[in-house]
Amino acid sequence: MGALARCLVLCALASASAAGSDRHVSLGIFDGTDAAEHEFPSQVFVVSLINEPWRGNSFYRTCGGTIISAKWILTAAHCVNGSARTEVRAGSSARGPAWRPGKLLAKRRIVHEKYRLYGRNDNNAADDIALVELELPLDGRRMAAVPIAKGKPARRRGVVIGWGLTEQGDFAKILQKLDVNIIPCPEKTPKAICIRSAPGSGVCSGDSGGPLLVDGVLHGVASYIDLADKTLEPNDHCGDGRAWGVYMRVASYRRWIQRHTGIAP
Ligand SMILES: *[C@@H]1O[C@H](CO)[C@@H](O)[C@H](O)[C@H]1NC(C)=O
Repeated sequence: MGALARCLVLCALASASAAGSDRHVSLGIFDGTDAAEHEFPSQVFVVSLINEPWRGNSFYRTCGGTIISAKWILTAAHCVNGSARTEVRAGSSARGPAWRPGKLLAKRRIVHEKYRLYGRNDNNAADDIALVELELPLDGRRMAAVPIAKGKPARRRGVVIGWGLTEQGDFAKILQKLDVNIIPCPEKTPKAICIRSAPGSGVCSGDSGGPLLVDGVLHGVASYIDLADKTLEPNDHCGDGRAWGVYMRVASYRRWIQRHTGIAP
């Protein structure tokens, strides 16, 4: 299995040795619009330095994450799993550089005990959710924790955000937002919530770990995109009207979050 095939969830990779270039390996939000500064004060930029022996070197994985309390960030497991170092940048809608993201260092990463990849080329993920505990609490200025969903969203419409690749082929410099429809997951996907948007739009690599928000409540964490046609590589089909986005259903993880953080979000 090649290195590329192992990064088919919505992650984005940048080689640590080519730290200045933020090179992408696979295909952010297509056809989104710029978020205003501080429009999403719960959004953070998450960068993990990962060393996977099969890849032969270290690389940076860039993702989104959501502030759920002054010390805790919720993100996707594949954003931090296997990482020796995770840094978080909060308080801005501007994308941080992968190699110097900010000053907020993770003290601890808690990857869901049942996190796993499966399916053709490990395109799918289960329990793809993780907590990042910050060394120092956020100071609250221009940052805010969001409440976690207790059940199903009241509406079938939400917003997704991220600094992932755009239809121009570059990572977004300004946080992108996109209105999406919440759909029944086309394939049996336990503890997931699925989204679809107008053809030409959708999430893409680099948006992983970011939120699906409905009326300001956190309902999902971005994991991967999927297509009914399994001969296609989902990450080559960002913005394809046939693809859908799979988010971990946060309401299913309330107790897990509570158990590990002690907070009742
Ligand atoms: C998570 O990281 C560990 C340690 O690097 C690794 O053994 C495991 O295979 C990873 N899990 C997945 C699903 O990639």
